[in-house]
Amino acid sequence: MKKIGIISAMVILCSCSAKFITPTQVDVDRVSSTYPGYTLTDLNQGKSIYEQNCNKCHGLKKLSSQSEKDWNVVVPEMVAKANKKAGSTIIDAKAQDQLLKYILTMRTPGKKVRAAF
Ligand code: HEC
Repeated sequence: MKKIGIISAMVILCSCSAKFITPTQVDVDRVSSTYPGYTLTDLNQGKSIYEQNCNKCHGLKKLSSQSEKDWNVVVPEMVAKANKKAGSTIIDAKAQDQLLKYILTMRTPGKKVRAAF
């Protein structure tokens, strides 16, 4: 019985960390034709912008919860909300770009990303 508890705890831990995969150079290479000049630093920065700002009013949304097209609409709306709530521009244009590219790159790991709509 104890074993089952430990195993299920491990399964839960693994599934949580698998939710937001750590980006690697493989992900950058996968989208390099869509985002020329894109770096792993940009990708990781997008991830931290997401994790630090997008859980203030609701939980972090699964990256796969929206289509690519919807994220293109939702991200600017949510950035505006986040900036308004903070009372200053905590996510500027460059940060918004890094955020959107992170989401689009990691929402379907292993797949190519189309150019912006
Ligand atoms: C100032 C509060 C606030 C912040 C900050 C915020 N959101 Fe939201 N967000 C909302 C509200 C309100 C809704 C609508 C209710 C809901 O779905 O929870 C929403 C909904 C969403 C949805 C669902 C949209 C839909 O049509 O189903 C997504 C995706 C989302 N937010 C992403 C983000 C991202 C990414 C960020 C970080 C930039 C963010 N949110 C930051 C308030 C916020």
